[in-house]
Amino acid sequence: MDYTQNFDNYTAAQHSTWNFLYERQRTNLQDKASKLYLGTLHEMSGTLTSPTIPRVEQMAQQLTNKTGWSIEIVPGLIPPPEFFKLLSQKKFCTSTWVRRQDQVDYIEEPDMFHDTFGHIPPLMNTDFASFMHRFGEVGAVLSVDGRDHQVTMLQRLYWFFVEFGFVREDGEAKLFGAGIMSSSGETKHAWGMRNNLKQFDLEEVMATPFRSDVIQDCYFILNDIPQLEQDLNSWFDKTY
Ligand SMILES: [Fe+2]
Repeated sequence: MDYTQNFDNYTAAQHSTWNFLYERQRTNLQDKASKLYLGTLHEMSGTLTSPTIPRVEQMAQQLTNKTGWSIEIVPGLIPPPEFFKLLSQKKFCTSTWVRRQDQVDYIEEPDMFHDTFGHIPPLMNTDFASFMHRFGEVGAVLSVDGRDHQVTMLQRLYWFFVEFGFVREDGEAKLFGAGIMSSSGETKHAWGMRNNLKQFDLEEVMATPFRSDVIQDCYFILNDIPQLEQDLNSWFDKTY
């Protein structure tokens, strides 16, 4: 089933909540987030708008023009095989609902602010876009084949890099993951841990369980995204 964004149904309060979340994070992330993220967020400021909830179609068009990625609207969390399949087709999924004003500090399920503000900008970067595509292809093969243990390992990679990863830029630790970018509390907490990070090592990350219902107590820092894609390929060759 195809889902669409019912843009005219958003209320003034929802637009204002969006604007609050966007501006609070823009301020929080200055000097803390990676240049990769801040640069692509800025590049998208005409479509991933701050004053009003963005139009998915416009963000998708800009992404497609730059890296060939697109955006698929989904009602909420989807099963891993579907998620991997969409990534393998260079489609990132987003919900279109926006949290209530009383949920600005915490929500249990990802809303559009997390899905777009957190996840979409880095897909404008060719290295990250390429990694995510390969990640989707690998995950699609393994999940269709029922390789549950390997799928869990991929989910850990996703968690500790795409959601809660740091990256090293010019020798400095910078925030990167979407779970951090889209959360004021996570930004503060993760930044406080910046001198206590584990060096990203694919094998170690894939062996590290995570919990999604508590604030993170373990963060990894990645040096090089193309290298991670190579490591993922080597792992896939060995495992499949
Ligand atoms: Fe996410």
